[in-house]
Amino acid sequence: MTSANAGWDTPETDARVEELLAQLTIDDKISLVTGEVNWDYGFYARPLDRLGIPALQMADGPAGVRINRGDVHEGRATQLPAPIALAATWDVDAATDYATVIGVECRTTDHNVSLGPAVDIARVPIGGRTFESYGEDPLLAARTGVAFVKAVQAEGVQACAKHYAINNQEDHRSSIDAVIDERTMMELYLPPFEALVQEGQVASMMASFNRVNGTFACDNSELLTDILRDRLGFRGWIMSDYGANHSTAESANAGLDQEQPGEGFWGAKLWHAWNDGEVSEETLDEKVRRILRPLIGMGQLENRTTIEDFDAEAHHDIAQSIAERSMVLLRNDGVLPLRGVRKIALIGSDVDDVTAKGGGSSQVLPTKVVSPLAGLREAFGDDVEIVTAYGSNPITPAALLPGPDAIPASFFTAPNGDKGLHADFYTSTDFSGDPLVSRTEGAAELLLGFHNFPGFNASSARYPLLPGELNNKLSVRYTGTLTVPVTGDYEVVVTSLGSYTLSIGGVVHRSKERVSGALQTSYEPVASSGAAAGVGHAAVSGFRGSVGGGGGTADAAADLDEIVFTLEAGAPYDVVFEYATDHPAFEDNWLLGAKVRLGWNPPAGVHSPDVEAATALAREADVAIIAARSYEAEGDDRPHMGLPSGQNDLIASVLASGTPTVVVLMTGSPIDTTVWGGQPNAILQAWFPGQAQGGALANVLTGVVEPGGRLPLTVPASLADTPVASARTYPGVDGHVHYDEGVLVGYRAQDAGGLEPTYAFGHGLGYTTFAYSDLSVAAGEGDAVGTASVTITNTGDRAGSEIVQVYAGKIDAPVLTPPKQLAGYAKVSLQPGESARVEVPISRRSVSYYDVDSHDFVTPAGRVEVLVGASSRDIRLTGSVAVG
Ligand code: BGC
Repeated sequence: MTSANAGWDTPETDARVEELLAQLTIDDKISLVTGEVNWDYGFYARPLDRLGIPALQMADGPAGVRINRGDVHEGRATQLPAPIALAATWDVDAATDYATVIGVECRTTDHNVSLGPAVDIARVPIGGRTFESYGEDPLLAARTGVAFVKAVQAEGVQACAKHYAINNQEDHRSSIDAVIDERTMMELYLPPFEALVQEGQVASMMASFNRVNGTFACDNSELLTDILRDRLGFRGWIMSDYGANHSTAESANAGLDQEQPGEGFWGAKLWHAWNDGEVSEETLDEKVRRILRPLIGMGQLENRTTIEDFDAEAHHDIAQSIAERSMVLLRNDGVLPLRGVRKIALIGSDVDDVTAKGGGSSQVLPTKVVSPLAGLREAFGDDVEIVTAYGSNPITPAALLPGPDAIPASFFTAPNGDKGLHADFYTSTDFSGDPLVSRTEGAAELLLGFHNFPGFNASSARYPLLPGELNNKLSVRYTGTLTVPVTGDYEVVVTSLGSYTLSIGGVVHRSKERVSGALQTSYEPVASSGAAAGVGHAAVSGFRGSVGGGGGTADAAADLDEIVFTLEAGAPYDVVFEYATDHPAFEDNWLLGAKVRLGWNPPAGVHSPDVEAATALAREADVAIIAARSYEAEGDDRPHMGLPSGQNDLIASVLASGTPTVVVLMTGSPIDTTVWGGQPNAILQAWFPGQAQGGALANVLTGVVEPGGRLPLTVPASLADTPVASARTYPGVDGHVHYDEGVLVGYRAQDAGGLEPTYAFGHGLGYTTFAYSDLSVAAGEGDAVGTASVTITNTGDRAGSEIVQVYAGKIDAPVLTPPKQLAGYAKVSLQPGESARVEVPISRRSVSYYDVDSHDFVTPAGRVEVLVGASSRDIRLTGSVAVG
C-alpha cells in the first residue's frame, strides 16, 4: 500500500473531521485522548466502532517494530541496525529503505502508529539513548528523519517524532529540568522536529519525560502550543511519553493531546476537569481534531492494518545492506580488507549471537540472526580456521553502574567447581525463605529493575535473565574462592545501593548501613565448601570509604566503597559477598532494581584467565578480530566513555601479542580508543548492527563491500571537552541541567575551542581514495543560499563511495556562532579512475542565526566561506558564497 502521505492535512480532511466530531459524546472524546495498555496490542487507544474510528495500535520504534503480541509473527520483526547507524550512512535512500521495512512491518502486524523516529540531538557522548538518535548535527538528523517519516507514512502508518523536547540525557530523565535559552533551542535542538513537521508531515509527536525551563514537557504550553503549533505549524497530535504526564487540566490546557500508556491523570479525572470547567469542551475538541486528522487524512479509517506475512528475507537483506553502508572505518593501516589469512581469532562477548544491541523500548525480536561468527564462517568457508573466545564476562546492564569493572568470573571458582561464584537469590531483603534462584553467576554485579524487563534487556545471550520478582526486592549471597596470579594490593571497589557485607579470606568488611545503622545483621561468613587446602588469609591494608557515586535509574545513585586487600598469588581465598536491596529508595519503586557490583583495580599487569586465553588464541592466529561492545539503554547514561567489563584490558592484552588486530566497536555512541596502550591495526565502528550483522561484518572485513559510514558524531579526546565536563552542564545540579554551552555542541564545540578530537565528525575511511577539485559556488534560491559544485575523482584501484561534505564558515553575527556548520552533503559512488561533478545545495540555516528579539532566523549579509571535504576536519577545498 502506498497511500498518500503528503496531503493528510487538507480542507477535505478537516471537513470529514468536523462531521465525525459533531457525532462524538464527551465520553467518546475522553476515550480518544486517553491511552490504554491493551494486553493484546500493547500501546493503544480505544476504537469508536459505531463511527468507524479504529483503535490506535502503536509499536516502538525507531529501530524496527517491537511487537507486543506473541501470536503475531511470534512477536518477531526485522531488527535493523541502530538509528545512529542509519545516520552514519549519510544517505537518505538508506533511510527510505530502513523506514519502509518498519512501515511495511507495522502495517502487516496490525499497527497503525510507529513510535519513531527519535531526533534528539546527541549532546553528551555518554547519553544512554545516543544509539537511538541521529547524532549531533541538526541538518543530518533532519534529513535522515524526514526520509524516515515519509517512508513510514507512505505505508499508511503514522510516524511519531520523539522525544519533544530537549531530551538529551537518561540520568534523571523523568525529573531533570533542561535550562536552555531560546536561541539554542531553536537553532540546535528543534530543527529536526521542525523539518519533520514541515517537510515530513509527521502525524504525531511524543512529549518527553523531562522538564524544560521549569515545566514538564507535557505541561509546557510554550513548547507544545506556542512553538510547535503556532510557530512550526504542527497540525497532528501529541501523545505523552509513557508515564511522562503529570497533570490533568495543566497538560490538557498546555496542548497535550493524548495521555499514554493508560489512564494516569486523564480519563475519569479529565472528565471531571471538563465537568468542573477547568478544561473546556473546545480544548477537548481540538485534541480530537488533531488525532482524527491524520487518521482520516492518511486513509486509516478505510485501509485497516492487518496481520499478514511480510518478506522477512528481503527485509533481512536490507538490514544487512544498511549495516554495511553504516560501518565507519576509523583507522586502517592496510590490514583491511583482510587478505591471505589462514587463521582468525574472533574474540568478543557476543561473537556467537546478535545481542550487541541497544536496550530499552527500541529493542526488536529478530526474524533471523546471523552472528559475527556465522557471517565469517560463511564468508571464509573451510579454507580459513576461525577460533573464538569470549574474552570477558557477559555484558549486562550492570555495565552502567559507576566504578571499576567487576572482578572477572574467571578469577573465581564456585563450590561446584564452575568458573564464577555460586549465587543464592532470595525474594526477601534479609535472606529469609528459600532462594528463588540458585546458580553460578559470572561476576558479582547486578542492575535490575527497568533494565531487567524481558524485551528491554540487551544482555549477552549467554547470560540468563533473573526473574522479575527479584528486581527491587532481593538479597543475594555469592560464595566461592578467589585466586589471583600476582601477589599485591588489590583495590576492591563495591558499588551498591543497599547494604552489603564482603568477606575475602575471612576478612570482613560491611557497608556503612550494616556497621552503624538499623540494617545491621548478625552476619557470619559462610565458608565455601569447595575451597582448596591452604585457604588464604587476606589482609586489609586500607579502607578508603565512599569514593563517589553515580548511576541514574529513578534518580537513586549507588555508593562506591574502596577496600584494599593484600592477596598472595595462587592462594584460594574464600569469598562471601552478601547484598540486599534494603535502601528506602527501592520501596514500591518497580523501575528501580538491585544495583551492586564487586569490582576492583588489580595491580598492573594482572589479566584475567579469560583475557589470557583469548590472547593465547590471538598469538596463534594471523589476525585477531575483537568485537567489543557496550551496554546502552534508556533509563541510564553510560558511566564513562570507555568499554565496560574488562574489554579495555582484553584489547590491550591482544594488542601486546603482536598479532595484527582489528577492533570492531559494537556500540551506539563514542568510545575512548586511546586507553589500550597502543593502536589496533584497524578500528571499525560498527554500531549496533542488527540481525544481519554477521553478513555485513564479513563483507566489510573481506572487502566484498566498503565500510560506507561516516561519523554522525564526534569522538572527543576527553569528556572534559564536552558538557560532561561540569556537573552543572551534565548531569545537572539540584535537578537542573544548564545548557550553558549554547549551540557549541559536538564539532561546533571542538572547532570553537580549538580542540583535537580523537575522530572528527564526518570522518570515515573507505578502501579507495578520492581527490577533490574545481570547487565552484553558484548563487542559490529559496532554502539554498548557493550550490557548491565539486569534481570528485576515485584515485584508488577499486570502486567506492564518498560522502562529500559541505560546511559553511563563520557568519558575521552579533552573537557567538560556530566556526563552521554542516550546510549539505551528497553521496557519490565511482569506479576506479572515474570522476563526477557533485552538486550540493548550501542550506540557508547554516549561514543564519536565531535572533531572540525578532524570534526568527536572520541571515547576515556578506560573504561566507564554503568548506568542502571528507570530514569536518578534512577540508579539501574552500570557496565562498554571497548571502543576505
Ligand atoms: C520511551 C519511548 C517509548 C515508550 C513506549 C518510553 O520509555 O521513552 O521512547 O516509545 O517508552 O515504549
